[in-house]
Amino acid sequence: MKTTKLVVLVMTIAVALFVLIPNLSWAGEDGAALFKAKCAMCHGPDGAGKPAMKAPSLISDEAKKLSDADLAKAVVEKAKHPAGVKSLSADDVKAIVAHIRTLQK
Ligand code: HEC
Repeated sequence: MKTTKLVVLVMTIAVALFVLIPNLSWAGEDGAALFKAKCAMCHGPDGAGKPAMKAPSLISDEAKKLSDADLAKAVVEKAKHPAGVKSLSADDVKAIVAHIRTLQK
């Protein structure tokens, strides 16, 4: 009887992990997570910019006027951006730009 309960418990945990793990993994298109990992250290977690890093605000009126294409271009082309930012895939940049738009609201 005890063994059966243990087996059921182990199976339940296995099934739970199977369901949860795909959701926990680093999804390539999670703009918020990418922004936190790749941009926040210079532009701030809320995108307001950091004078100490000479990183401009991404939520200023000027930044709001930039098109999605302008923002995406800046991400991969700014000379001040580290290699890890310039080498982001187009999909990742798109997700990050979408996240910047939510910060601008
Ligand atoms: C190492 C610090 C650093 C990191 C990391 C960084 N930036 Fe920047 N970013 C800068 C600096 C400095 C500038 C201003 C460079 C210039 O104007 O030549 C800039 C400029 C920009 C601009 C242009 C803003 C404008 O008004 O023209 C955008 C958009 C931008 N960054 C987005 C991002 C995004 C999105 C990320 C993350 C994927 C990122 N940056 C990561 C430092 C950084």
